[in-house]
Amino acid sequence: MPKTYSIVLLPGDGIGPEIVAGAVRVLDRVAELEGFSLTYSEQLIGGISIDTTGDPLPPATVDACRASDAILLGAVGGPKWDDPTAKTRPEVGLLGIRKALSLFANLRPIVPFEELLDASPLKREVIEGTDILFVRELTGDVYFGESGRTGSGAEETAFQNMVYSVSEVERVVRLAARAAQQRRNHLTSVDKANVLEPSRLWRQVAQRVMTEEFPDVRYDVVLVDAMAMHLLSRPRDFDVVVTANLFGDILTDEASMLPGSLGMLPSASLGDSGPGLYEPIHGSAPDIAGQGIANPLATILAASMMLRHSLAEPAAAERIEQAVRQVLADGLRTADIAPQGGNVRPLKTAEMVAAVLTRIS
Ligand code: IPM
Ligand code: MG
Repeated sequence: MPKTYSIVLLPGDGIGPEIVAGAVRVLDRVAELEGFSLTYSEQLIGGISIDTTGDPLPPATVDACRASDAILLGAVGGPKWDDPTAKTRPEVGLLGIRKALSLFANLRPIVPFEELLDASPLKREVIEGTDILFVRELTGDVYFGESGRTGSGAEETAFQNMVYSVSEVERVVRLAARAAQQRRNHLTSVDKANVLEPSRLWRQVAQRVMTEEFPDVRYDVVLVDAMAMHLLSRPRDFDVVVTANLFGDILTDEASMLPGSLGMLPSASLGDSGPGLYEPIHGSAPDIAGQGIANPLATILAASMMLRHSLAEPAAAERIEQAVRQVLADGLRTADIAPQGGNVRPLKTAEMVAAVLTRIS
């Protein structure tokens, strides 16, 4: 009997359905070559789910995700659901599934492809050799702190609490430190301990975990504002970077410009056990949705992270990564990574998927 894995697909909004469909074709091809099989259950999340059920994360979606081996998500959100007075929002679905499955660590690798170095707005000399693994805490912070409004008129006040507990910091720092041991053995923790109380707790706990449990890992601490600068001036100096939810959200979008396009970057959200959730870092790109021109590579690479981290099929993952490298080496580009003013016609989504498929061996 070949091994069978059950995958939940959450295509979501905007370009989500287009790119997830592409990744599924790639997954099926490597499964066939490696002799395992994948079954898919498509579920609702985000804006489309609000339109269909009134709920951005219906209970049926959570149940299906819990019962799965891994989850592949496209993107959520779009202008249609942006009304600030709306009862609910697509993003609530994404935050909800992270929380429901305790996916407390979001791994975002920032590794520029050699072939795309000139697509980056930064100089080749600065970015060449960069290889950073961001570990963003994903189930705490202002994202899940108490929020509300009081008062009225000019005195109306809004608040959103920044909250971290010792155990929340411990588990994500441990996960990041273990990742560092598999890499270049260097961990950087990013906080704002000169101003924020939760950051001071974060710093104390991280320091203790590192001293007591990982004395062999080189460890340093950087303030988040300085980190925003260092990322652009000396990105090569970082190996694994661990940080809080909000700082990680912002810094990883910044870091995504090192490889040139958000359209290339996958991410994995993991807990201590249970299924992981894999998605591109980019959003739903409503401006190009439905046109068939989105770059499917980030989602295809997210599928390869899924094979590695949740399904323990590293050979299948390697086949995908190899094919993506080959596509780029062959000069094939979707519009987002095509050189400005170039005379080569950019590939459409389906053409890029087909190009990857023919290079999988
Ligand atoms: C991300 C996104 C989400 C976040 C949004 C869509 C809620 O920006 O995954 O980085 O802020 O976490
Ligand atoms: Mg973000």
